[in-house]
Amino acid sequence: MKTLELHELECISGGQAGGQGVDLCEGPMHGIDGIMNADNAYFAVHGKLVPILQKLYDAAAVEASGEIGPLIYLSPRGAPLTQAKVKDLAAGPGVRLLSGRYEGIDQRVLDAREAEEISVGDYVLSGGELGAMILIDACIRLLPGFMNQAGSLVEESFEGGLLEYPHYTRPRVWNGIEVPAVLTSGDHARIAAWRQEQAEATTRERRPDMWALFTRRG
Ligand SMILES: C[S@@+](CC[C@H](N)C(=O)[O-])C[C@H]1O[C@@H](n2cnc3c(N)ncnc32)[C@H](O)[C@@H]1O
Repeated sequence: MKTLELHELECISGGQAGGQGVDLCEGPMHGIDGIMNADNAYFAVHGKLVPILQKLYDAAAVEASGEIGPLIYLSPRGAPLTQAKVKDLAAGPGVRLLSGRYEGIDQRVLDAREAEEISVGDYVLSGGELGAMILIDACIRLLPGFMNQAGSLVEESFEGGLLEYPHYTRPRVWNGIEVPAVLTSGDHARIAAWRQEQAEATTRERRPDMWALFTRRG
């Protein structure tokens, strides 16, 4: 399980981020031999799908203020999560996240609550919780107060449609390998040009899809 970083804790304690969970296993449940079961066999065997459906439907409700943001169902069928989407969500009033297990969530709840489906990648997880953690982590680091330098966010991967340039730290020579000379030149214009070149080369090589979009944009 992921542990929270100091910056994330600061955002949470500073009131920038917060959350509330709804445990669908709480309260009276119906199941096979006393084991809570929310997949479709449950419906077929006992005809008692309604309790879990109703719990899901109620949990996904928009509060009276209507200020809690979209309902997102983490799902491999969803639109891929992108940095643009993360930015959008981080700037909004919040999100309600729905994580499935087994075969997923009954379509009627998704339709009735107008859930938006988002995927964290082209693979299948056993549950949506880790996908929800990914989305939360990506949003929290964009909140005010997470990073000291706003500039470090501006130059990150996906900003401006490119992957980020490589980073080097001290010492200048390590194991006989030198930091590229341009980075120690003190010439800010040359450093910026070198970084742009590197970002473009990395994107062209690793992400032809992103590169095609970048070049099309001109
Ligand atoms: C075993 S999966 C269900 C997969 C589903 N039967 C399908 O084939 O599309 C159980 C839950 O994990 C979550 N999940 C699995 N893969 C995911 C992904 N790539 N992105 C986001 N959530 C995912 C969803 O919440 C899903 O309801």
